[in-house]
Amino acid sequence: MILQIMWVSWVMPLLSLCSVDASTARSDVKPGCQEKCGNVSVPYPFGVLEKSCAMNDDFFLNCTSNDEGHPELLFGRNMPISNISQQEGTVTVGIDAAFSCYNKTGIQTDSFAQSMTLVGPFMFSDTRNIFTAIGCDTFGLVTNSESTYGAACLSLCTEYVEMSDENPCSGSGCCQTSIPNGLNSLYYALSSFSNYTNVSDFNLCGFAFLADTRSLKISDWPLSRTPKYGKDAYATDVVIEWVVENKTCEQAKANTSAYACGANANCTYPEIDQGYRCLCNEGFAGNPYLKDGCQDIDECMDPKKYPCQGRCKNTVGDYTCHCPLGKYGDGKKGCQGIGIITIIAAIGATIFLIIICLLLYMMCIKKRRDKNFRKNGGLVLKHQRKNSDETDSLLEETSQSPHRKADHEPMTPSQTVISFQIENYTDSI
Ligand SMILES: *[C@@H]1O[C@H](CO)[C@@H](O)[C@H](O)[C@H]1NC(C)=O
Ligand SMILES: *[C@@H]1O[C@H](CO)[C@@H](O)[C@H](O)[C@H]1NC(C)=O
Ligand SMILES: *[C@@H]1O[C@H](CO)[C@@H](O)[C@H](O)[C@H]1NC(C)=O
Ligand SMILES: *[C@@H]1O[C@H](CO)[C@@H](O)[C@H](O)[C@H]1NC(C)=O
Ligand SMILES: *[C@@H]1O[C@H](CO)[C@@H](O)[C@H](O)[C@H]1NC(C)=O
Ligand SMILES: *[C@@H]1O[C@H](CO)[C@@H](O)[C@H](O)[C@H]1NC(C)=O
Ligand SMILES: *[C@@H]1O[C@H](CO)[C@@H](O)[C@H](O)[C@H]1NC(C)=O
Ligand SMILES: *[C@@H]1O[C@H](CO)[C@@H](O)[C@H](O)[C@H]1NC(C)=O
Ligand SMILES: *[C@@H]1O[C@H](CO)[C@@H](O)[C@H](O)[C@H]1NC(C)=O
Repeated sequence: MILQIMWVSWVMPLLSLCSVDASTARSDVKPGCQEKCGNVSVPYPFGVLEKSCAMNDDFFLNCTSNDEGHPELLFGRNMPISNISQQEGTVTVGIDAAFSCYNKTGIQTDSFAQSMTLVGPFMFSDTRNIFTAIGCDTFGLVTNSESTYGAACLSLCTEYVEMSDENPCSGSGCCQTSIPNGLNSLYYALSSFSNYTNVSDFNLCGFAFLADTRSLKISDWPLSRTPKYGKDAYATDVVIEWVVENKTCEQAKANTSAYACGANANCTYPEIDQGYRCLCNEGFAGNPYLKDGCQDIDECMDPKKYPCQGRCKNTVGDYTCHCPLGKYGDGKKGCQGIGIITIIAAIGATIFLIIICLLLYMMCIKKRRDKNFRKNGGLVLKHQRKNSDETDSLLEETSQSPHRKADHEPMTPSQTVISFQIENYTDSI
């Protein structure tokens, strides 16, 4: 009882230590900072509420209640954030689509051109976003604010086109063009050839937007769509990429007080060719921007990702895997040979077989003896029982000097003694 209590009092703190370790290891924010705004996670270097929760002002975000009282995370003044990825270095924001509408006589009734500028180390992702225009008399154009870049796409049709996700957006009801990398400002708008007069039966509005290729569904944009306003306005997900600072790794490492990467992390360059990001070293996982964000991965807990056919042992930044006794090779790739378990099993099976054989053999002997006993010994017994007193004295004598009597009597009592002994032995088994 006392032992049990002692065991519990020893083990419980150890167990709780383990669980505390595991939970703190996964933290994505500075200690004491809010992890989420509504249901959007805010990983460091981003931060909300307190300026000290963000790496600098560029990463400090506004988390306020919207009109319905739900917390809303905003990028800049008015772009709602739906996702922040620390690993990919992206922020996904909702941006209203540009549109242009006409009535049947070709008079423009409504239009909206989108224009936005990112402040800080942020750029529109050229790999994730695509510029798209929807309409049948539609000319979508996109430029940056300095007009150092400009592109346009044209979409025409003479009859209603069903917008399907399989439709490759090849200029009939829909057209697309990519944007160059490194842009931090965008302007997009729409124009037409004949004010939609030739298509007014089925298409009165054109739309243009930048959108994340992973979430864009063309089927969401029927040609019959007319615009909505305010918070119901049609918006698309736009992916914005961020870097720590527009510096090279060498420049960044030179100023240790401003270098953003924590312990067990290193400086990397994103695909978007400006500035640097941080990445946990191999064997570590977590948030590389936090001082001790990168924590050792316990590879042994994830055998699917880190295979091990032998004894797995976690080490700092790596793991070892030794093949079981009797096998050889790299345990991470696979072990060859017969394992000790197999050998033991084989030996065990052999011993078992030998014992069985021995037992069978003994039973055979016993049976034969019984037979002999019944044939010969039985007679002796009978004879013995008749002269039991005589036999007792005889036994005493034989045990003292067996060789003397043996010659004269072919079936001595000593033989019967042996047969009894065998019987007793086999019974006890
Ligand atoms: C939370 O996420 C769900 C699913 O992504 C979304 O439908 C919902 O509107 C979000 N709620 C808030 C308050 O952002
Ligand atoms: C956050 O946004 C709201 C609404 O746009 C604004 O009133 C408030 O001043 C902003 N707060 C900060 C800290 O920028
Ligand atoms: C956020 O973005 C990352 C990377 O783009 C993605 O893996 C993750 O599933 C997204 N999360 C949500 C809730 O959309
Ligand atoms: C189109 O708008 C103009 C100007 O507002 C108006 O004069 C004309 O009647 C409208 N056409 C139709 C078919 O509504
Ligand atoms: C289109 O409308 C504009 C004004 O809204 C007008 O100046 C132009 O002439 C019209 N073009 C055609 C082809 O109707
Ligand atoms: C619009 O229709 C008119 C007459 O039907 C035709 O002359 C003109 O070429 C058409 N415009 C386009 C862009 O198809
Ligand atoms: C980053 O720096 C490079 C070279 O110093 C410059 O050409 C580029 O415009 C900068 N990018 C941003 C977004 O400031
Ligand atoms: C290093 O970074 C700190 C903090 O950002 C800054 O105050 C300081 O001026 C920088 N030093 C140099 C040499 O750039
Ligand atoms: C860190 O990254 C630099 C270049 O980005 C590389 O030269 C260096 O070997 C890396 N250090 C470690 C420990 O991975």
